[in-house]
Amino acid sequence: MATKTINLNIEDDCLCSDITTTCSFPLEQKDVEETQSLSLNRPNGYLKGESRIERAWSHWKKLGEPKLIVAPMVDNSELPFRLLCRKYGAEAAYTPMLHSRLFNEDEKYRAMEFSTCKEDRPLFVQFCANNPDTLLEAARKVEPYCDYVDINFGCPQRIAKRGNYGAFLMDNLSLVKSLVEKLANNLNVPVSCKIRIFPNLQDTLSYAKMLEDAGCSLLAVHGRTRDEKDGKKFRANWEAIKAVRNVVRIPVLANGNIRHIDDVHSCLEETGTDGVLSADPLLENPALFAGYRTAEWGLGVAGMKEDDKLDQAELLIEYLRFCERYPVPWRIIRSHVHKLLGEWFRIQPSVREDFNKQYKLTFEFLYDLVNRLKELGVRIPLYVKDTEQAVSAN
Ligand SMILES: Cc1cc2nc3c(=O)[nH]c(=O)nc-3n(C[C@H](O)[C@H](O)[C@H](O)COP(=O)(O)O)c2cc1C
Repeated sequence: MATKTINLNIEDDCLCSDITTTCSFPLEQKDVEETQSLSLNRPNGYLKGESRIERAWSHWKKLGEPKLIVAPMVDNSELPFRLLCRKYGAEAAYTPMLHSRLFNEDEKYRAMEFSTCKEDRPLFVQFCANNPDTLLEAARKVEPYCDYVDINFGCPQRIAKRGNYGAFLMDNLSLVKSLVEKLANNLNVPVSCKIRIFPNLQDTLSYAKMLEDAGCSLLAVHGRTRDEKDGKKFRANWEAIKAVRNVVRIPVLANGNIRHIDDVHSCLEETGTDGVLSADPLLENPALFAGYRTAEWGLGVAGMKEDDKLDQAELLIEYLRFCERYPVPWRIIRSHVHKLLGEWFRIQPSVREDFNKQYKLTFEFLYDLVNRLKELGVRIPLYVKDTEQAVSAN
């Protein structure tokens, strides 16, 4: 039994095929030259003061002011998943959080955990860190490939507590400030930060202003506190996000409670923010930003109808095709299969059992799995707006 578990882990940590088309390390010569020419134009990295705020906006505008954004997700917002979400409406995306020290020290970690390609823009590359020099060294390696280097100040997990990063740096704001300053003064791409709110609004606002003054060019605010870990249990506080929007001058993104496209519209309206991030809901429904809904938000809702083409199985097949082109570790694919087909497995638990037992995954096995579910008659539709009904109602 023990041997089996070990095998499962080893197999799952392997890439699903050989790297061929991804952009990874070492940098190609043209990327190095591009970075060097950027450095010549901006010898002091990102500028301070008023002109820095203006530059934060002009950068954001140059990117096309993306509003619909894939949030960072460890083991889940990797390249193939980002590409799938982009195909269905996402206008920008974050990488999963990368550990800055491991990223510098471990070549294998870099190759396994970070990949991108030319279609993968605008891109935020996110790091966790507690040492400014380590963070800068890691950030320099990715700056030719991205539009923002992001610092994760929001991770509330035990592992972040042990490692002293993420939301636990909210107890050490001078370290937070030095991390942001280090990047803002030395990088050629802007630095963004992803934060959680404090229980007290005034603390949140002072925090946001401090980040802006330290050189942060874009702020993503997850409207939950460090202790509100369970997103399903705690509603995100959009009022607090709105207050942050009103107190800083840089672009602000809202995060929390974006479960379907109507949430996007209400959130933008209620908070006045410049865009939204969605995480967990995208895992079940990567076509969320294109207006598709899962049964939870579409079944029996007035003005919605079943879509007869796209469903989660089709999305999984598209995802697997991206994985064949842009390899990722099998454990990541495994996680997406569970999220995408969770409800389908509930109808046919024996297929889930077979999937769980399969310690060595292959694409053939996974395409077969989808076929098996179809042959067993399982299909859970996605829902879309019924435009005909809307027209006839008018
Ligand atoms: C599987 C998973 C992994 C996550 N990993 C990260 C991460 O790497 N970095 C980060 O800042 N937040 C991470 N988060 C938090 C999300 O980015 C987001 O802030 C949170 O889930 C709230 O958004 P939601 O309500 O749309 O899920 C993760 C969330 C999930 C569900």
